[in-house]
Parts: sequence; structure tokens; C-alpha cells
Amino acid sequence: MNIGIIGSGIVGQKLAADLAQHGHSVTIGTREPAKLAEFKLTAPDVQIGSNADAATHGEIVLLATNWGGTHNALELAGISHLAGKIVVDITNPLDFSSGKPALALGWNTSAGEQVQAWLPQSKVVKALNIVTADAMMNPQSYIGGSPDMFIAGNDADAKQAIAAWLEGVGWGIVDLGDIAQSRLLEPLAMIWITHGFNSGWKITKHAFKLLNKSGS
Ligand SMILES: NC(=O)c1ccc[n+]([C@@H]2O[C@H](COP(=O)([O-])OP(=O)(O)OC[C@H]3O[C@@H](n4cnc5c(N)ncnc54)[C@H](OP(=O)(O)O)[C@@H]3O)[C@@H](O)[C@H]2O)c1
Repeated sequence: MNIGIIGSGIVGQKLAADLAQHGHSVTIGTREPAKLAEFKLTAPDVQIGSNADAATHGEIVLLATNWGGTHNALELAGISHLAGKIVVDITNPLDFSSGKPALALGWNTSAGEQVQAWLPQSKVVKALNIVTADAMMNPQSYIGGSPDMFIAGNDADAKQAIAAWLEGVGWGIVDLGDIAQSRLLEPLAMIWITHGFNSGWKITKHAFKLLNKSGS
């Protein structure tokens, strides 16, 4: 599959490398391609381009930007290049101004809803925002079995496609409903972030699982 990635930080680079290794054709977008020269040596199959190149290349586009730069990154990608496509929103709207990670918005809206509003013709699916980049394409070897990936989005077919893809990678899938359920998924990420932060980031590979009591 052709996959575009907007955002070239820890998440963008790790996903690009892992997805290329899984056989996908990946273009990662950045405002500054030169800064990915070292990364390119470690992942030679990944194509590096502008955000617009990533948006054009991807049948599916993964959004892995710093929240504060997300709107600008999408404008650079070209809203029209993303029309009709599935955009997987991995962002968390974080505010580090107090020295401790906190949500910059919530309760009445969410990053997922904001991204869908910025991309009215795209099918935004919130996913992958509740685990570390290392685990996104590697949910194996968890004590207690496979963890679950919680997803949300307005388009049933888009969610089904993302669910099938992530199940193939090894995730259990819990579909929470429409994109407004990002109001739950972003605070859920805060449990992951706070637990890691409180451990001094010694714990980073934790993940969630929805357990059902037998017979229920
Ligand atoms: N780190 C994790 O393990 C993890 C896990 C789950 C979810 N998340 C979420 O995933 C997203 C990406 O995480 P990260 O740690 O990889 O983020 P990051 O390094 O902070 O930022 C990712 C990219 O955002 C782009 N960006 C920043 N400011 C911009 C601006 N003004 N205009 C356009 N683009 C801008 C940059 O792209 P260029 O400079 O290349 O253009 C940057 O490489 C975040 O929202 C984060 O909360 C992270």
C-alpha cells in the first residue's frame, strides 16, 4: 500500500521505517528534508519529500505532527490532496507549558474533531495515539496477551479498513464510535503519558486492553 506520513518526529520516523519494512511504499513529509539525511541511511526504502508529496503519495495518510504545528502542516500538505482519503490522526493535543504534560483542549472538543473539521472531505480515523511509537507496528510480546487499539471516526468503511490493517499487525480493535470519541481517546493517552512520565520514562511500552468477564 502507498502510505504518506505527515510529521517527521519520533513517531513519523518510526512508523515510516516499520511500514517500509512491512513492504509498504512510504513517503514521509517534512518542511526540511535535509534534516532526515541520517534517518534515510537507516531506512533507505523510505522516500523523503514535502508534506504535499506525502499527502499525494498516500492512499492512506498518517498524521504525526506536534499539535501546535498540525494545522500548518495540513495546509502545507494541501487540504485538497487529502480529499477523499483516510487520514489517521495520531496526534495528542499536548501542552508542556507547566513542565508536565497536560491536554491543551478537551471536554467539548478534541484534536480528532479539529482535524476532521480542517479536512472536511477526508475520512479521519483517530488511532495509534495511545501507545509509544515503538509499539504502533509491534504490538507483540505483551504480558497478558495482545493489547487493544481504540479507534474513532465518522466513516464506517474507513474505520473498517484501518481496523483490518491494524488487526493484521496484531492489535485487537475497539471501535468507540464517531470522531467525537477522540474526547475519550486523547485523555486515555494521558494515562499512558502520565504513567510513563511518573516512571521517569523508564516505562514506555505499556498499552491498554479491554477485558470482558467470561459469560458477559
Ligand atoms: N512520541 C510518541 O511515542 C507518541 C505516541 C502517541 C502519539 N504521539 C503524538 O504524535 C504526534 C507526533 O509525535 P512526535 O513525538 O513525533 O512529535 P514532534 O517530534 O514533536 O513533532 C512531529 C513533527 O511535527 C511537525 N511540526 C512541528 N511544528 C510544526 C509547524 N509549525 N508546522 C508544520 N509542522 C510542524 C514537524 O515536522 P517537520 O519539522 O519535519 O516539518 C515535526 O517533525 C504528537 O501529536 C504526539 O503527541 C506521540
